[in-house]
Amino acid sequence: MAKGLEGVVATETSISSIINDQLTYVGYTIDDLAENSSFEEVVYLLWNLKLPTKTELEAFKADLTAEMELPEAVIKHLRSYDLSTVHPMAALRSAVSILGLYDEEADVMDQAANKRKAVRLQAKIATIVTAFARIRKGQEPIQPKKDLSFAANFLFMLNGEEPKDTEEEAINKALILHADHELNASTFTARVCVATLSDIYSGITAAIGALKGPLHGGANERVMAMLTEIGDVENAIPYIKEKMENDEKIMGMGHRVYKNGDPRAKYLKEMSKELTKITGQAKWYDMSVKIEEFIKEEKGLPANVDFYSASVYHSLGIDHDLFTPIFATSRISGWLAHILEQYDNNRLIRPRAEYVGPKNQEYVAIENR
Ligand SMILES: CC(C)(COP(=O)(O)OP(=O)(O)OC[C@H]1O[C@@H](n2cnc3c(N)ncnc32)[C@H](O)[C@@H]1OP(=O)(O)O)[C@@H](O)C(=O)NCCC(=O)NCCS
Repeated sequence: MAKGLEGVVATETSISSIINDQLTYVGYTIDDLAENSSFEEVVYLLWNLKLPTKTELEAFKADLTAEMELPEAVIKHLRSYDLSTVHPMAALRSAVSILGLYDEEADVMDQAANKRKAVRLQAKIATIVTAFARIRKGQEPIQPKKDLSFAANFLFMLNGEEPKDTEEEAINKALILHADHELNASTFTARVCVATLSDIYSGITAAIGALKGPLHGGANERVMAMLTEIGDVENAIPYIKEKMENDEKIMGMGHRVYKNGDPRAKYLKEMSKELTKITGQAKWYDMSVKIEEFIKEEKGLPANVDFYSASVYHSLGIDHDLFTPIFATSRISGWLAHILEQYDNNRLIRPRAEYVGPKNQEYVAIENR
């Protein structure tokens, strides 16, 4: 038995692949995509398995912006949370589930309806995350602007002002790098859910739940908590040594598939270097480099996508508990692609378990136990 299904190939896919530590989306390297494309172009690619023409891309962008508005009932729901205790990932998971209640097509299962719902979900997730972030600060949610990109609109709806070019570029690139990742835990969750022929909203709600965990998307927030606790560059190695002596995991390090290095991490590392310099907070980058080098040497483990994304988002002034919701805002594109692929060639996903519990037990009546 492969614990954690390590190395098990559970499905075929045409969406993304990891071969020899190289990640590709529909056969395009993430290097080409990160350096040249927009997030919207990548989403189109993942859902249609081809790059859009200029006209197709313009139409797709317009569709996304047009779908960003939330039903008033969902906003009302976000306002009703106990904002002092609710984590944005829990709020997002619940809000997406509620969103399904207000989509008349939620249970319409033909391909065209599912594609329409994919656009709605991709668009509205950005509004849910940013509206929640504003509401908890006593600010009003903001409507998107038609002429802004998805990345720029995300920052605009979050901060109430249009981002600088460097900020838009950083978020655009981060969204591209997080968009899809073969059969990661949350994507597998989404596929298992919809393989029962349950609806898209259920699949995405389940996937958000899986992403929330600290071993998956929840790691980026914890990386920043660790850096904050370390405080200064000279404390980094003693802090990490102590963690290792206590057998504690270092967040943002290690990966199930990449053993030599995560191909996404180098871009986030570059961005972290640039942005922490701009904001005069180079210590977060310097500290991260020290930790990365130390863990590589001591345990042979590479930094993963979450490690440098923490200092990138922090440099953009984003609240730390919004890091994982940003991951979700990107990864939903991959979840939706995989859900559409699953529906197109479905079979119930139902593996077996090896039973290791007691056998041949004799039932004892309750009054005699
Ligand atoms: C990503 C992760 C869950 C992969 O887990 P996995 O494939 O099951 O790997 P394992 O937990 O079996 O780890 C294998 C070995 O490396 C060690 N290891 C793995 N990640 C580690 C980490 N982040 N810090 C310290 N040691 C780690 C394990 O302790 C284990 O050591 P051992 O063989 O001496 O017992 C794991 O590396 C991890 O927990 N990382 C931190 C969380 C994180 O950053 N998640 C985001 C992933 S993109």
